[in-house]
Amino acid sequence: MNRVLAVSATAALFALTGCGGGGSVGGSSSSSSSSSGGGQLPPPASAPPLKTELAADFGVANFPVGAAIEPAATTTAPDNAILLKHFSSVTAENTMKPDTIWPNAPGSTTQPAAAPNFAPADTIYNFALNNNLQVRGHTLLWHQTAPSWFFAGDQGNPANYRATVRQRLCDYIDDVIRHFPQVYAWDVVNEVATDTPNAANPYRTDSPWYIAYGVGGGDPTEYVKDAFTCANQTRTAIGKTQATMKLMLNDYNTELPGKRANVMAIVQSLVTDGMPIDGVGHQFHLQINADVAQVTAALQAVEGISSTLVNHVTELDVSIYADPGECFAQRTIPPCLADVGTTPAQTLLSQQALKYRALFAAFDRPSVQSVSFWGIADNHTWLNGFPVNRTNHPLLFDRQGNPKWAFWAVVDPLMSVP
Ligand code: GLA
Repeated sequence: MNRVLAVSATAALFALTGCGGGGSVGGSSSSSSSSSGGGQLPPPASAPPLKTELAADFGVANFPVGAAIEPAATTTAPDNAILLKHFSSVTAENTMKPDTIWPNAPGSTTQPAAAPNFAPADTIYNFALNNNLQVRGHTLLWHQTAPSWFFAGDQGNPANYRATVRQRLCDYIDDVIRHFPQVYAWDVVNEVATDTPNAANPYRTDSPWYIAYGVGGGDPTEYVKDAFTCANQTRTAIGKTQATMKLMLNDYNTELPGKRANVMAIVQSLVTDGMPIDGVGHQFHLQINADVAQVTAALQAVEGISSTLVNHVTELDVSIYADPGECFAQRTIPPCLADVGTTPAQTLLSQQALKYRALFAAFDRPSVQSVSFWGIADNHTWLNGFPVNRTNHPLLFDRQGNPKWAFWAVVDPLMSVP
């Protein structure tokens, strides 16, 4: 449906005054709408499909608009209905991570051979393929989900040990990519950069991969190159290319200049070394007071390294709680802001809506080729438990699955928000 018709019909019914902080930051919407809205949320049934609106805004047919899901979302209302109406891509929230796919060794001297556990991710993958949704692959390597069997062995012989760990990594990557051949982009590595700016060593040093590769004085960072090299070998072997299956490095806080410098230093070195990296995934777990100019700077930083690199927004959510400073360090209330409960003040929802609108205006650039949220609706979000337990509302749909002001601010850049 054309967004002008979809959105202005609701606006005709619900337009009040043009007061409020709406304004148009939507920029280059290809089908600019003219609705005003303002006082009351339009009825849920009048919501146009998010994926259609964004594809029109960005001028890209089938632009992937994704949500991270667990298998249950494919069969549970209202999640499955929202997914089918509004999204064109899915990411497995947890089920494609190594500790789910292959928690136990696929055969070693100390453990019985264990088969991979593809079934949970298969549920998501098959649901997607059967319903014309694209699939983002997340993730082949992450320090938080690295089963210990990868690193078993005799470290007294570093050369052999390293070769063994490398072989396991490559075999694992090969098996997983082959199992999900229609994935359009893989987060080959997740969160390999360290948080504190460190030009001398931008890598996270507490990763078991970094530690294992460093045994006997080896280059601890080489696991990243191996992961990309192996992923590319399999991609080629199954007839896929950079155009059909992108190999990405994914990380958080690229909107913060210090962390961004580390991520970009790693990406630059991979490009310089001729590694088959096709782009950067920006998690963008943001807060309500996020600086959108810094989000743009993160996207531009990737563009500046090479015009062949793409940007994906991979884990978008906007917490309604700003961090007063020490929240993430202390993880208690206070200093984290107190729980606002299930019905946050309109000012917060409006502020969030305008932040989302500004973010999507920032995402409207050719290098951004996929935008995924970390969840479907506020009923299921990791932010209800992180950095503290409190009721969060970070997504475009509320706990009942109804579109929030944030939804309307994104799909109709001209609708005024109360
Ligand atoms: C990171 C990971 C995701 C997910 C989120 C929050 O961003 O990349 O897979 O685990 O944390 O849960």
